[in-house]
Amino acid sequence: MASNPETQPKAGFSHRTLERNITLLGLCSLVAVAIGGIVEIAPLFWVDSTIEKVEGVRPYTPLELAGRNIYMREGCYLCHSQMVRPFKDEVERYGHYSLAAESMYDHPFQWGSKRTGPDLARVGGRYSDDWHRDHLKNPRDVVPESIMPAYAFLAEKPLNAGDMRAHLRALRAVGVPYSDKDIEQANADLALQATQDGDDADLTARYPKSQVRDYDGNPAVVSELDALVAYLQMLGTLVDFKAAEAQEQPK
Ligand code: HEC
Repeated sequence: MASNPETQPKAGFSHRTLERNITLLGLCSLVAVAIGGIVEIAPLFWVDSTIEKVEGVRPYTPLELAGRNIYMREGCYLCHSQMVRPFKDEVERYGHYSLAAESMYDHPFQWGSKRTGPDLARVGGRYSDDWHRDHLKNPRDVVPESIMPAYAFLAEKPLNAGDMRAHLRALRAVGVPYSDKDIEQANADLALQATQDGDDADLTARYPKSQVRDYDGNPAVVSELDALVAYLQMLGTLVDFKAAEAQEQPK
């Protein structure tokens, strides 16, 4: 076959040499990938934290955590995301886009991957407890066109959260900064937040912005509904975005 002299390889080391020697090509690829890997991974060992801390973000109270467990048990994440993306349409609909720090204590995170229903990352405080109660009992009572399933049984079932001390201890083992006192008080904190039965000054000091009240409208029992609504009502309420924005852009 006649060959064009212009495409002939020059003498010495060239691409042609490299591409024809599988061992050499493999070695060089390995070196190239290793350099890329080191550049990406090595810095993580030197920065204190890869997530910027944000004022206001705190670990969940035991009641919120129990509610979060019900949220996972019922598979709410299959229809709801908890992640507002930084796009204009999302921010206008839901509020400030989600920050990494907002889910730094989430094990596992609840970002979700499908939105059959709306994003819930900023749903806290948007509706009253009564609204959530009616909505979870039968979504069609408040949103006639809703296709969300009814969860009427939550109001009937007493919350059986188990020993929350063990739960908090496990979370501490993976880096959630619960104090010894938080762990010791976990079961009492849970009852107190849902019943308002006692002095909540200590609870709200350890968990700023925690909301202490009877969420399900039935003071006689701490139900699964109490825990779930407590969780929904705190979502997106910890960070004061207005203050943070004012600080960023002084006028
Ligand atoms: C089959 C999908 C589906 C599942 C599962 C589901 N939802 Fe929904 N959810 C929806 C849809 C659709 C809407 C919008 C209509 C409405 O408000 O009912 C919605 C709305 C909501 C809203 C109101 C949000 C807003 O901003 O208006 C809340 C709160 C909510 N769901 C909580 C939950 C919780 C908690 C669970 C689990 C116990 C759950 N959902 C399970 C589909 C679902």
